[in-house]
Amino acid sequence: MRHFLTLKDYTKAEILEIIDLGMAIKRELKSGDIKAHMPNKTLAMIFEKSSTRTRVSFETGIFQLGGHGLFLSNRDIHLGRGEPVKDTARVISSMCDMVMIRTFAHSMLEEFAAYSKVPVINGLTDSYHPIQLLADYMTILEHNHSKDLVVAYVGDGNNMTHSWMFLAAKLGFELRVATPHNYEVDATVRQEADAIAQESGAKIIYTNSPQEAVKGATVVTTDTWASMGQEDEKEERITAFGGFIVDEALMAEADKEALFLHCLPAYRGQEVSEAVLEGAQSVVFEEAENRLHAQKGLMVWLDQQR
Ligand code: CP
Ligand code: NVA
Repeated sequence: MRHFLTLKDYTKAEILEIIDLGMAIKRELKSGDIKAHMPNKTLAMIFEKSSTRTRVSFETGIFQLGGHGLFLSNRDIHLGRGEPVKDTARVISSMCDMVMIRTFAHSMLEEFAAYSKVPVINGLTDSYHPIQLLADYMTILEHNHSKDLVVAYVGDGNNMTHSWMFLAAKLGFELRVATPHNYEVDATVRQEADAIAQESGAKIIYTNSPQEAVKGATVVTTDTWASMGQEDEKEERITAFGGFIVDEALMAEADKEALFLHCLPAYRGQEVSEAVLEGAQSVVFEEAENRLHAQKGLMVWLDQQR
């Protein structure tokens, strides 16, 4: 049995296999040939943070696969009132076939997985957002941008950045991370990603200059400056991130065919301008739709490993 907690735990071949399976299931859906790959299977979805895409994609996805999703907000289950994670894990995994968790500390997810009898999927933690990267890379593949891929990530060194670092390290492409001073990526994650990159031949560059990161890049991406749980820091972050907006001037530094990706939700006028988000290079809504397809691939793949 496998969990899906970070991309660090997956090989290049496995990551590509999961995305490939997602693309095959997407073709089935688009042709009207919906197959029940997971009949009668149940997915428990524990949310300790808000979500639009993750909730809708998993709930719709498991239904289309012939199963059923249970939306469990921490306001409704006893976890939110202090029932231990290890007890919650043993109870839920004795009844459900798979569990998705969106939470704060990554260690909560690891503890849950350690006590779970069924596969656990990371639906976002403070440290990582690996399912988003499956959809992002699927979108890159669909646009034939995987060859000579150079990704520029401009913004906060956060859960999205860490997941991009592991994706680049595993798949072997060039990633340039531009963060403001004091908002750099986690030092331990950087060490781990750099070690994997050395083996795979990936190049990961860290800078404080958005222009340096974006120059000639074939994909430009960013994320909110204040992640969930950082609402109190919003004002100071807006000041600290001055000059880090992905606008038309910055996009002009990238390859002229460059794609713009954003995991969403986006804050127009902060990390991205309206013109870039709504512009011809932006594929953010395809990327969002691909959450559904990529995660169906992931659920079927994890179910097959059991
Ligand atoms: N990108 C993403 O995970 O979106 P939600 O927070 O809406 O799930
Ligand atoms: N970094 C953001 C991603 C939202 C999908 C957050 O954690 O809030």
